[in-house]
Amino acid sequence: MNAAFLFCGSWREQPLKPENAMTDAISFKLNDKPVRLEVDGDRPLLWVLRTDLGLTGTKLGCGEGYCGCCTVLVDKIATRSCLLKMSDVRDKEVRTIEGLAANGKLHPVQKAFIEHDALQCGFCIPGQVLHAVSLLNKNPHPTREEIIRGMNNNFCRCGAHTRIIDAIQSAAVEMKGGR
Ligand code: FES
Ligand code: FES
Repeated sequence: MNAAFLFCGSWREQPLKPENAMTDAISFKLNDKPVRLEVDGDRPLLWVLRTDLGLTGTKLGCGEGYCGCCTVLVDKIATRSCLLKMSDVRDKEVRTIEGLAANGKLHPVQKAFIEHDALQCGFCIPGQVLHAVSLLNKNPHPTREEIIRGMNNNFCRCGAHTRIIDAIQSAAVEMKGGR
C-alpha cells in the first residue's frame, strides 16, 4: 500500500439507495440505542453510519481495511467499518466515537488523548481512540511494547504516534491496569 494513497479522498461514499439494491431489515444496537434499518445488507457499515445516520466521527480513509480511520467497536472489539457488511452487524452492539463518553464524562482514553495532546489534525483520532479502548479491554495491563504492537496498524499521517502511545499508557493506569 502506497502511503500517499491513504487519505487522498479518492473514495466516494455510496449513495443512500444504489439502483437495484435489495434491502433488508437489520436490527442492532448503536451507542446503546436499538436501531432498525431497511438497508442493502452488502453496504459497508461505515457508509451507513456516515451517510444514513450522520455519524461522521467515523472517518473514511483508505476504504480498504489498511489505515484504521474507520474503526468502531462491534461487541467491544475494534472493527474496521469500511470492510464490515451491514448484514454482519445484525443483532450486534456497535459503538462509535459519538457513543464513547458516558453520563457527560469522557472515557479515560479520550481524556488521556486530550491531556497528552495526542493529535494534530485529528482525522485518525476516533479510530485510534476506539482501537485503544478495545486493546485495553483485552489487555488492561499492557506494557509500552504491547501498546506499540497493538496500535501498529492504525496509521497517523501527522506522526502523533509517540503521544498516542503515551496517552494509552496513562489511560491504562487511570483505568487501574497499566504498568
Ligand atoms: Fe482505512 Fe477503513 S477506511 S481501514
Ligand atoms: Fe492527523 Fe493522525 S492523521 S492526527
